[in-house]
Amino acid sequence: MDVNICVANISHVKYAERICELMYISAQERGTGIAKRSPEYVSEKMIAGKAVIALAGEEFAGFSYIETWSHSRFVANSGLIIAHEFRKSGLARRVKAKVFELSRKLYPEAKIFSITTGLAVMKLNTELGFKPVTFSELTDDEEFWKGCQGCINFDVLQRNNRRMCLCTGLLYDPAEHVKDKKAAAIKAFPFIASKISSIITLKK
Ligand SMILES: CC(C)(COP(=O)(O)OP(=O)(O)OC[C@H]1O[C@@H](n2cnc3c(N)ncnc32)[C@H](O)[C@@H]1OP(=O)(O)O)[C@@H](O)C(=O)NCCC(=O)NCCS
Repeated sequence: MDVNICVANISHVKYAERICELMYISAQERGTGIAKRSPEYVSEKMIAGKAVIALAGEEFAGFSYIETWSHSRFVANSGLIIAHEFRKSGLARRVKAKVFELSRKLYPEAKIFSITTGLAVMKLNTELGFKPVTFSELTDDEEFWKGCQGCINFDVLQRNNRRMCLCTGLLYDPAEHVKDKKAAAIKAFPFIASKISSIITLKK
C-alpha cells in the first residue's frame, strides 16, 4: 500500500497514543532510555503544525516532530518512529526529509541538530548535510539536556559535565551551507565570478 507523508494537524491527534506506545516499546527493544513523551505533548505538536506523519490509508506508519531550543536558535528533529511493519523500506528517509524541510521552512535561520546512537539516524542526517560535532556546538538550553534524564547513560553525561556522552551530536548549520553554495557557484562559473569581482574592484 502507498504511504503518504504530510505535515500533521488536529485530525491526526487520534494517533498520538499509538505513537507514544511505539516509542516506548522501541526504546525498550533498543535497550536505551527515552525522553518521556505524552500523548498530550505529541498532540500539541500536531496541532501546532510541527510534526510529520506517515499513513498507509488510515494505518499509522511513521512520525517525527520539531522542537525548538535556545529561543528558536536551535531546532531538533525528534521522536523519529517507524511502525515495525513499515521498517526497512526507506520510510524513515522520507519522514526525515519531510521534517527537515518543515524545519527549514519554519525556522530558516536556526541550526538543526540531533544526538543519537542510532546508525540509521546518523546515515540519514549525513545525507541531509548534517556534520558530526562535539556537544559544545549544540544548544545549552537546560530543558533540552533535562530530556536525557530518562536515558540509561545519563550518569555518563553528568560525569562529563555535559561535554560528551555515548551519543553523537549532528548539526546542520544553515550559514555553512550558504558558504558552500557560494563556493560551488564560484567553482562552476569562475569567469562570471572574476567579472563580478573586477566590477566590484572598479567601483571601489
Ligand atoms: C531507526 C528507524 C527509524 C529506521 O526506520 P526505517 O524506515 O527502517 O529506515 P529506512 O528504511 O529509511 O533506512 C534508512 C537507512 O538506515 C539504515 N537502517 C535502518 N534501520 C537500521 C538499523 N536498525 N541499524 C542500522 N541501519 C539501519 C538502512 O539500511 C538505510 O540505509 P541504506 O539506504 O544505506 O541501506 C526505525 O527502525 C525505528 O523507528 N526504530 C525505533 C525508533 C528509533 O530508533 N528512532 C531513532 C531514534 S534516534
